[in-house]
Amino acid sequence: MSKVQPPQLPKGTRDFYPEQERIQNYIFDTWRSVAESFAYEAYEGPMFEHLELYTGKSGEEIVSQLYNFTDKGDREIALRPEMTPTLARLVIQRGRELKKPFKWFSMPRLFRYEKAQKGRLREFFQLNMDIIGTESIYAEVDLLAAISTMLRKFGLKDGEFLIGVSSRKLLATYLDEIGAPNPGQVYPALDRRLKIGPEAFAKALADAGLTEEQSAKLDAFMSCKSLEEVRNAVHSEAATAALAEIEELFSTLAAAGFGECVALDLSIVRGLAYYTGIVFEVFDKGKSMRAIAGGGRYDSLTEKLGGERTPGVGFGMGDVVLADLLKEHGLLPDPKQTVDIYVATFGGDMQKVFLTATSLRAQGFTVSHALAKTKLGKQLEQANYQGAKVVVYVDGEKAPEGGFEFKDLRDGTMHAGVVADIAAQLKA
Ligand code: HAM
Repeated sequence: MSKVQPPQLPKGTRDFYPEQERIQNYIFDTWRSVAESFAYEAYEGPMFEHLELYTGKSGEEIVSQLYNFTDKGDREIALRPEMTPTLARLVIQRGRELKKPFKWFSMPRLFRYEKAQKGRLREFFQLNMDIIGTESIYAEVDLLAAISTMLRKFGLKDGEFLIGVSSRKLLATYLDEIGAPNPGQVYPALDRRLKIGPEAFAKALADAGLTEEQSAKLDAFMSCKSLEEVRNAVHSEAATAALAEIEELFSTLAAAGFGECVALDLSIVRGLAYYTGIVFEVFDKGKSMRAIAGGGRYDSLTEKLGGERTPGVGFGMGDVVLADLLKEHGLLPDPKQTVDIYVATFGGDMQKVFLTATSLRAQGFTVSHALAKTKLGKQLEQANYQGAKVVVYVDGEKAPEGGFEFKDLRDGTMHAGVVADIAAQLKA
């Protein structure tokens, strides 16, 4: 009989053995604690949606990366490649019932059929933080402050990451000023500007209907490094308003202590089709990696999906590039398993072991014990391996009435007492 091939991990996916899962949980815990400290509330949705939620609204690139299939009821279904359309659906469904503005976060598992490479996988997690129901620029301030706080909490210093900010509103007014055609067709080309090189970029702009002169102007505009330069390049009232918004964003962030975390970067356009205002991407210093996070304002997405117009702004931060970056800076912890109590037996009294473990768990402790009758030495070895702080002996001779003999593995001291004494010892 031929030998069966062992199963293989699908391309672009990851296994999380407990040691990796502990690191993953560190990332999730940090995401969650910072999001909650900014008063964002958690929400979730299904991992698959109707295909049409994405087609035509999210943009060509992401649609070309969909994992989609026809289900047994002949419905066209897609695994979610991003969370924003699901969020928009949730907003539309509850409509005016939802008190606005509100701030929500989620940590979905997402799927994109991408060429698997460093920083890009086919299955990944992405923190999403979004503010729905306000057009105010202070929503952007809140989000960028949250990103900065989060990256600092992970241990990165200002200067080791940078949030590049641009504005589609500003770009649109400039496109209008130079008489360029429909911005919607130009954005995908602009988004690829630095990735594809000058020749391919020129061709992409020509394909989008721009003349050579318009393309050159646009290229120069996107290279502007300061607000002064931009101010000299734009003249319309709409452009001045868009610029004033960016200035308010930067000055408020600076006042709140995040000035070093943000910079103007007009080369950022974002690939997704639904952005209407401020757009931003977060990079490591020197942009040696893919983006850590990206987001922006999408004031007409709910309307495009058939609901009422509801302004929204938010971002997605993936776990893959973030973990690569933290690893590079030596900032990924290596947490070990820990339990409060390991219940041991000298004489192999397994019934008493299970009874004691049950009672200790009911009192709020994390508890482990052997799953076979083994020598005490083996039990202590396992207790150490599992990171137990205290070993409680169920049949120790020196145990007081209703209590136990127990050993603190952290300092090797032996004790005898009731559960309250064990609890006190654990706190010591
Ligand atoms: P996005 O730029 O497509 O935006 O993704 C945001 C982040 O998710 C990226 O910067 C990256 O860290 C991570 N990411 C994206 N694709 C992959 C992949 N294949 N493998 C690993 N990580 C990846 C969005 O998804 C928007 N929906 C974000 C948003 C929320 N905008 C407003 N609200």
